[in-house]
This record gives sequence, structure tokens and C-alpha cells, in this order.
Amino acid sequence: MKAIVVTDQGAGTAGMKLAERSDPQAAINDVVVEVRASGFVPTELTWPSTWTDRQNRDRTPSIPGHELAGVVTALGYGTTGLSVGQRVFGLADWYRDGTLAEYVAIEARNLAPLPGDVDFTVGASLPISGLTAWQGLFEHGRLRPGQSVIAHGAAGAVGAMVVQLARSAGAYVIGTGRAADRQKALDLGAQEFVDLEHDALEDIGRVDLVFDLLGGDIGKRSARLVRGGGTLVSIVGPVEARPADGLAVDFVVEADRAQLSEIVQRVRDGRLRTNIGTVSTLDDAVAVFNRKVRSSGKTIIRVRGDSRRASAESR
Ligand SMILES: NC(=O)c1ccc[n+]([C@@H]2O[C@H](COP(=O)([O-])OP(=O)(O)OC[C@H]3O[C@@H](n4cnc5c(N)ncnc54)[C@H](OP(=O)(O)O)[C@@H]3O)[C@@H](O)[C@H]2O)c1
Repeated sequence: MKAIVVTDQGAGTAGMKLAERSDPQAAINDVVVEVRASGFVPTELTWPSTWTDRQNRDRTPSIPGHELAGVVTALGYGTTGLSVGQRVFGLADWYRDGTLAEYVAIEARNLAPLPGDVDFTVGASLPISGLTAWQGLFEHGRLRPGQSVIAHGAAGAVGAMVVQLARSAGAYVIGTGRAADRQKALDLGAQEFVDLEHDALEDIGRVDLVFDLLGGDIGKRSARLVRGGGTLVSIVGPVEARPADGLAVDFVVEADRAQLSEIVQRVRDGRLRTNIGTVSTLDDAVAVFNRKVRSSGKTIIRVRGDSRRASAESR
């Protein structure tokens, strides 16, 4: 099969290559999915799991990409809950070969059914950003209606989901980002916007929940804005400053079938908008990930199926 591989940790996206790899095999409780669309988070080339296995042994050449939508083509020993020909989407294991490939072997529990009226491109754009926002707000942040939320990076992949999910849960949402992101954040549902390059973050006052995806100085200053009993939720590693009288939580997103199904249902009924930017092909993926121009929204790679194994359906 065709796949994007990386071997050189120091090279970043410039080290990505389109290569021929052997087809993956389904292990116990796995399925093999013919990947139709794949999502890639640029920071994954800095994650240890891209380069080593769970025993810290080199696992290169590895295939990046951890979000996918596609069609199940094989079941592993003992796999239940999914069937061959089923449309699925989900989040691939950090320590296994990923989804910038024509096929991926993945545990069935990491996937949810993708409804027939949801495009594969949309399906592949949702798992990391949607699940991260959902888990940060509702599991780790225990958000309740009427609470106030700072959604940092509100126009980005995760931030756009945080704004929309928090707002639909009845929260008061203050988005942040660059000056150019203001209108997008407001359109997504933020009631206020703070331009981090020109406005004073501290003018926001106290809030119940900060969703931090920027860290550094912004993260530290944000901790001081959490009111008593509130929570600072970080997705960029352990927090450097904790709220004086609140909780600090950092976490890494996990696959969850029920949450994926909730998220895609919200997309279907119009409550959740996707944030898709460039859509390209596997052949052009290396060039797209190495573009110098900044693009807004999530980049999705449409992966063509392998003609040797026509998929059971192609909606
Ligand atoms: N722990 C987890 O499970 C988890 C899950 C998903 C993501 N993450 C991490 O979360 C971070 C965000 O991910 P993402 O996919 O949402 O990224 P993204 O799409 O690039 O969004 C980040 C947003 O923040 C803006 N921004 C960045 N620095 C800023 C600054 N100094 N001032 C104002 N705005 C700024 C960006 O604007 P520009 O594009 O103009 O820079 C962009 O709009 C990444 O570090 C990622 O690795 C962690």
C-alpha cells in the first residue's frame, strides 16, 4: 500500500516521504480499515509515540496521522461490534502506524460507525478536535450551564469545537486568539473575543473554566483567572501554574465510541460545524504539510482506496 512515512525525528514534516509499505494485518480485536480520509496534527512529529513503541524502542519508519474515516475491510480474531463493509471513523493508537496510508489496522473500540450521510472528509476532521473538546469540557472540566469558559485558540481545530460545545451546553464563552480570528470565533458562538496580541487577558476577569491549548505565559496568566472552585484544563502538558483555589487538569484525548457518535450526530443536525481547511490527496500530502503559507482550518488528506480490494461500499 501507499503510505506517508517518517524516519528522521529532527527533520519535521520535511522528512515525510511517500513510500510503499506492506498492508497491515488485523490483530486480536482489530479491524483493518480502507482509509478514505485522514487527519494529521502537525505537533505529532514531536510526540515520543511517533518514534518509539510503548517500551521506548525505535519504531521507525512510522506512519503518522491518527484520525481517519473509511470502510472496514477485515476483522481480527475475536473482533465484535463492527462488520466488513461498515463506514467508520475514529482515533488511531498513538503508538501504532497511523492513517496517512491506504489501510490501517486499528482496535475496533477506537472507532464509531460513520452515518451514511456524513462525508469521509468530515468524519476524519472530527476525532481529535471533537473528542478533546468534549473530554476537556465535560469530563475533566465538569462544565455546567451558566458557567463561564475561556476558549483559547478559538479559531483553531480544537478551539472551534470548544467554543461550539461549551456554548451549546449553556456556558458563556470568551474566545481568544489572534486579531484575524475574531470574526470566526464570534461566528462559532463565542460571546466575547480577546485578541491575545493586543488586548489584556486579565481584563476578562474570573471564569469557571479555562481551556488551555497554548501553554507558556498565556497558560500561567490564565491560571490566575480561574475563580474559586473552577478548573484549568490543559491539553499542552502539565500546567506550570495552578489556580490558587481551583483544580488544574492536563490530559491526552482518548478514543470513545459513544462520544464520537454524539459528536457526529451534532454535525448531522447542524449543532456543530466542522473547521476544515485544505483537502488534498496522499500523493500531494508531503507538499501540503510543508507549505510555507499558513492555512486556516484542519488539513484533511483524501486517501484513494486500493483497486485490488474494492470496498464493499463507496458512499
Ligand atoms: N492533549 C491532547 O489530547 C491534545 C489534543 C489535541 C491537540 N493538542 C494540542 O493542542 C494544541 C492546539 O491544537 P490545535 O489542533 O487546535 O491547533 P491549531 O488548529 O493550530 O489551533 C491553535 C490556535 O491558536 C492560535 N494561536 C497559537 N498561538 C497563539 C498566540 N500566541 N496568540 C494567539 N493565538 C495563538 C492559532 O493561530 P495561528 O494558526 O495563527 O498560529 C490557532 O488559531 C497543539 O499543541 C496540539 O498538539 C493536544
